Amino acid sequence: MPVVLENLGKRFGDGAPVLDDVNATIAKGEFVALLGASGCGKSTLLNIMAGLEHPTSGALEVPSDGAAFMFQDSALFPWLTARGNIELALQLADKSSTKASRRARATELLELVHLGGAGDKRPHELSGGMRQRVALARSLAQDRQLLLMDEPFAALDAITRDLLHDELERIWKETGRTIVFVTHNVREAVRLGQRVLLLSSRPGRVVAEWDVTEEHRTDAGRAGELTGVITRRLREEIRRHAK
Ligand SMILES: Nc1ncnc2c1ncn2[C@@H]1O[C@H](COP(=O)(O)OP(=O)(O)O)[C@@H](O)[C@H]1O
Ligand SMILES: [Mg+2]
Repeated sequence: MPVVLENLGKRFGDGAPVLDDVNATIAKGEFVALLGASGCGKSTLLNIMAGLEHPTSGALEVPSDGAAFMFQDSALFPWLTARGNIELALQLADKSSTKASRRARATELLELVHLGGAGDKRPHELSGGMRQRVALARSLAQDRQLLLMDEPFAALDAITRDLLHDELERIWKETGRTIVFVTHNVREAVRLGQRVLLLSSRPGRVVAEWDVTEEHRTDAGRAGELTGVITRRLREEIRRHAK
C-alpha cells in the first residue's frame, strides 16, 4: 500500500501554517529522502505520517498497521542491553511471541546491523554509531512495512555516517521496507534516496523533486552535479524565506 499525502496542512494553535498543501505519493518499497531547511516542518510531516500528530487539513493514507520510527537520538533504554532493547520492541510488536522466539529474532537483527558481538552491552558502553545501529534494529523489530527516519545520522561523524549509509542501503534492499528519510543534508539525500523531495519553508510544501538514477549511484561526477543543482534550489528556498 502506498503512502498518499493529499493537500495536507498543519497549523499549531492559531499560528501561521507550518505545512500547507503538501502532496506526495510514496510507493511501497520506495526510498524517499525528504529534504528541507531546519524548521521547515520535516519532523511535523513525519510525525503526521506516524500518527503522532494530526493534520489540520487535507487527507493522508498510510498502512493500517502504522509505521516504525527512528529518531536522531537513539532513545534506547539505558538500563537494558542492546539485545534487551530489541527484545522489548519485539515483545511490544507481538505480545503473544515467546521468549525463545524473541531471543532468536533479536540475534538475527543484531547480525543484520553488524552488532553480533555487542548484544550484551548497554547503551553507555556503545559508540554513537553503534547506538544508532541498535536503534535501527529496534525500529526493524517493530516489523512495519513503513519506516520513518528523522535525521537519524545527523549527530554522527562523517565517516561513521558514510558507513551507516552503506548499511542502511543494504538493509533496505534486504527487507524491502518503504523508507521516508528526513534530512537537511543534500549529499545524504542524494546518497540514499531513489527520489528527493524538497520541502519549502513557511509554509512547508513540496516544491521540487528529483529522481536519483542508477547513473547517479555509479558515477560520482553525476551525483556531484545533482547535489549541486539541489543545493542551489535549497539555498533559494532559504533566501526566499529569510527576506
Ligand atoms: N508542537 C508544536 N507546537 C507549536 N509549534 C510547533 C510544534 N512542533 C513544531 N512546531 C513549529 O513548527 C515548525 C516546524 O518544526 P519542525 O517540524 O520541527 O521542523 P524541522 O523538523 O524541519 O526542523 C517550527 O517553526 C516549530 O517551531
Ligand atoms: Mg526536525
